[in-house]
Amino acid sequence: MSATPPEKTLTNPRAKHGFIARTCSIAAVGAYVPERVLTNAELERVVDTSDEWITSRTGIKERRVAAVGEHTSDLAAAAALRAMERGGIKPEQIDLIIVATITPDMPFPATACLVQQKIGARNAAAFDLEAACSGFIFALEVGQQFIMSRTYDTVLVIGAEKLTSIIDWKDRNTCVLFGDGAGAAILQNRPNTHGLLTVCMGADGSKANLLSMPGGGSRCPATAESVGSRLHYLRMDGKETFKNAVQAMCQAGREVMRRCNIDISQIECIIPHQANQRILDAVGERLGAQPGQVFMNLDRFGNTSAASVAIALDEAVETGRIERGDLVLLLVFGAGLTWGAAVIEW
Ligand code: ACO
Repeated sequence: MSATPPEKTLTNPRAKHGFIARTCSIAAVGAYVPERVLTNAELERVVDTSDEWITSRTGIKERRVAAVGEHTSDLAAAAALRAMERGGIKPEQIDLIIVATITPDMPFPATACLVQQKIGARNAAAFDLEAACSGFIFALEVGQQFIMSRTYDTVLVIGAEKLTSIIDWKDRNTCVLFGDGAGAAILQNRPNTHGLLTVCMGADGSKANLLSMPGGGSRCPATAESVGSRLHYLRMDGKETFKNAVQAMCQAGREVMRRCNIDISQIECIIPHQANQRILDAVGERLGAQPGQVFMNLDRFGNTSAASVAIALDEAVETGRIERGDLVLLLVFGAGLTWGAAVIEW
């Protein structure tokens, strides 16, 4: 039984667009970013860079940095509690917690288990999912499958990252790009309400070397030598990643719109992974988006990987940029390579 107040009845999105299945709705969203703001001006004192370069090449002006002692599970729990409060969801109602992250508190146990304890969701199963910056959409789809299969009724999906913990602060190519934060969504079975219409996901492991953290796994366990060689930091071939990101997000976006039999003019808001303003501009242009149709907040938060779309969705909802009934296109791309897209009727 949901404690959420009754909502405006919407057309069953699946029925409307030709899908007949148990409906999976996003009952509520929430987000949390750490208080500490790191500006481009401050980064000028850390590496050989400039506000002008960062702004013109990425669109990023500032990002958030977790406090000492504040970990991915703390960011995730804070975002989850906000979503639960908004949706009127009690901790014991949650059946499953999925945390999408590439910066877990530790290799194991799963960060989702730590979140379960922090929010008091004692009835929930919990596991992590790793699809880098694509993680939130992958986790939404996995969560949705549990609801549609009738295994669970309430699934908490979180994208959470403390990327500043794996950034090489001596590498100007990457350290200016990333930030910390978390976003959460609560999925529930609610007939005749808003929901996920369709999701597509993809991967190409042949390009795994474009974006990775080489150290810390079974291939290269931590040693004094691996740490000295800076293998425990994120590495990226920015140019190749850029090209692949534009191509993959456009393809995935077209695919989900085709499946729903809609075109870009019917989408109220496009919420892409907040990687780089130039990537988002290129994606918007290729998809035929109108000015203002692509949601951006990377100027304030940078690239928060799995948290990015979740934080942006929360902001779009909170600021009234999207309203119940609007069609929203989510687009993601990340290490793996991985990519995906989703159409939701908010
Ligand atoms: N400040 C000043 N100069 C810099 C900086 C900096 N912070 N970073 C790089 N430069 C220099 C480079 O050294 C290079 O100098 P050189 O020509 O003398 O060698 C010059 O600027 C141009 O570098 P490019 O790599 O060509 O710059 P580009 O325009 O490609 O922008 C960027 C780099 C921002 C990284 C871009 O390629 C990008 O955004 N790539 C995609 C990132 C992405 O989408 N990631 C998504 C997934 S993230 C995940 O999954 C965790």
